[in-house]
Amino acid sequence: MVCFRFSLVPGLALVLVCLVLGAAQSYALELDLTNSENATCLYAKWRMNFTIYYETTNKSQKTATISDHDNVTYIGSICGDDHSGPKIAVQFGSGFSWVVNFTKNEPKYFIDSISFSYNTTDSITFPDAEDKGIVTVYDSLEVSIPLNNVFRCNSLLTYEKNSVVQHYWDVLVQAFVQNGTVSRKEFLCEEDKGFTTVAPVVHTTVPSPTTTPTPEEKPQVGNYSVSSGNTTCLLATMGLQLNITQDKVASVINVNPTSTGFTGSCQPQTAQLRLNSSIIKYLDFVFAVKDENRFYLKEVNASIYLANGSVFSIANNNLSYWDAPLGSSYMCNKEQTVSVSGTFQINTFSLKVQPFNVTEGKYSTAEECSADSDLNFLIPVAVGVALGFLIIVVFISYMIGRRKSRTGYQSV
Ligand SMILES: *[C@@H]1O[C@H](CO)[C@@H](O)[C@H](O)[C@H]1NC(C)=O
Ligand SMILES: *[C@@H]1O[C@H](CO)[C@@H](O)[C@H](O)[C@H]1NC(C)=O
Ligand SMILES: *[C@@H]1O[C@H](CO)[C@@H](O)[C@H](O)[C@H]1NC(C)=O
Ligand SMILES: *[C@@H]1O[C@H](CO)[C@@H](O)[C@H](O)[C@H]1NC(C)=O
Ligand SMILES: *[C@@H]1O[C@H](CO)[C@@H](O)[C@H](O)[C@H]1NC(C)=O
Ligand SMILES: *[C@@H]1O[C@H](CO)[C@@H](O)[C@H](O)[C@H]1NC(C)=O
Ligand SMILES: *[C@@H]1O[C@H](CO)[C@@H](O)[C@H](O)[C@H]1NC(C)=O
Ligand SMILES: *[C@@H]1O[C@H](CO)[C@@H](O)[C@H](O)[C@H]1NC(C)=O
Ligand SMILES: *[C@@H]1O[C@H](CO)[C@@H](O)[C@H](O)[C@H]1NC(C)=O
Ligand SMILES: *[C@@H]1O[C@H](CO)[C@@H](O)[C@H](O)[C@H]1NC(C)=O
Repeated sequence: MVCFRFSLVPGLALVLVCLVLGAAQSYALELDLTNSENATCLYAKWRMNFTIYYETTNKSQKTATISDHDNVTYIGSICGDDHSGPKIAVQFGSGFSWVVNFTKNEPKYFIDSISFSYNTTDSITFPDAEDKGIVTVYDSLEVSIPLNNVFRCNSLLTYEKNSVVQHYWDVLVQAFVQNGTVSRKEFLCEEDKGFTTVAPVVHTTVPSPTTTPTPEEKPQVGNYSVSSGNTTCLLATMGLQLNITQDKVASVINVNPTSTGFTGSCQPQTAQLRLNSSIIKYLDFVFAVKDENRFYLKEVNASIYLANGSVFSIANNNLSYWDAPLGSSYMCNKEQTVSVSGTFQINTFSLKVQPFNVTEGKYSTAEECSADSDLNFLIPVAVGVALGFLIIVVFISYMIGRRKSRTGYQSV
């Protein structure tokens, strides 16, 4: 571990900067920011990397992965005062700048937002970039943490904004540190809560982002539709979670509907929905008609950018999911899995699709999946069984009571 102390504003704030040297994947960054009394006001230790998509001069898309941070400085990091909140500012490599700021609203404090800038003029990091200049992405996080608690998140946190995918893991941070002592009280992120064993060691081994447990959060539900001429011909409402398994490691990606585009086409016997975003090159759902009166999901074709910049592609045209009569829609509120291959699964949440015979842009009556109807069927059965049992219990108590009172009278 390499540590060095330097003063930002002479006599005002002293910074202890430590750079923990990790494996090639990513370094841990560490900042112990102190105020004029040498008391810690902000402490942070974390790992991060970035995948940046950019257009090249020949109109194709390239990716740059920024995972090791050279020549790190923390100029501009502040404890905060009456006018502005605490801030961590990091500069590294060839013109990268990363800033996170914090706010306070008793009894909580917030990781407010992250702003990340890069300079595409650097032709070593961004070869053949069409647009040259500074690009800034700004992401509002609003993570809330109780005051005097240190926020811990060992799980991988992914933020996708414009053409940048930001990954953070092994995060430990406390702003508004009280009495110069980093709190012993830890506030875990939601992603860590699902795991009983939380690795307490931040110093030593460096897990790569893909080996870290991935978010357990459910994906947001998106609305997708395809039009033919000026009429809607395909409707889909669903939350999507992609699960790519490579080298025995699963990466789970939640599809964010707000940053996902969609197109498609409708023909009498086949209909297609295509999604795309900065991390989904394309994800095609192809529906077909069978037995002249039913539809089903026949094919999935996908191509997805991985965190390391490579592209994962898969196609299967021999699927059989989401089967329902033509003229109706298929619905499944419970989580369902479409297994495209041994390496690629799609988990769906609150699913409703109608790929054919959409009238007036609205869903027709839905045929529900068995997982949903099992539940609908089980509830009345359970209630019935419980009621029956109660009647028997009441009847038996009545009989016993009657007999007892009768023998009672006889003995008098
Ligand atoms: C802060 O610590 C430095 C050395 O680490 C010391 O020289 C300085 O006097 C200290 N300042 C205060 C106000 O304690
Ligand atoms: C880091 O700094 C060294 C020496 O100042 C320099 O040679 C090197 O090119 C820098 N690296 C980057 C990525 O800017
Ligand atoms: C945090 O920084 C962003 C710009 O990077 C700014 O727009 C925002 O107002 C800042 N928030 C606070 C509370 O200072
Ligand atoms: C971006 O990088 C180029 C070359 O690396 C440099 O000349 C230019 O000044 C940088 N732009 C800014 C705004 O720093
Ligand atoms: C900080 O110090 C004050 C006064 O000594 C004390 O009342 C307060 O409980 C301390 N807070 C923490 C978090 O230790
Ligand atoms: C939709 O298309 C039909 C025929 O193509 C046309 O008659 C109708 O005016 C169009 N409606 C709208 C709202 O554009
Ligand atoms: C992802 O796929 C792997 C391998 O099929 C499986 O073990 C794992 O449970 C899946 N994870 C999720 C969240 O679906
Ligand atoms: C799916 O991918 C395969 C192979 O890449 C391709 O042959 C096929 O045409 C694709 N299907 C659709 C509907 O795009
Ligand atoms: C990216 O990661 C996957 C699986 O982790 C691996 O198969 C692939 O070779 C990697 N690609 C690059 C360019 O490192
Ligand atoms: C398609 O799937 C069915 C059953 O799932 C299987 O019997 C058939 O061999 C598969 N066809 C191809 C070409 O893989």
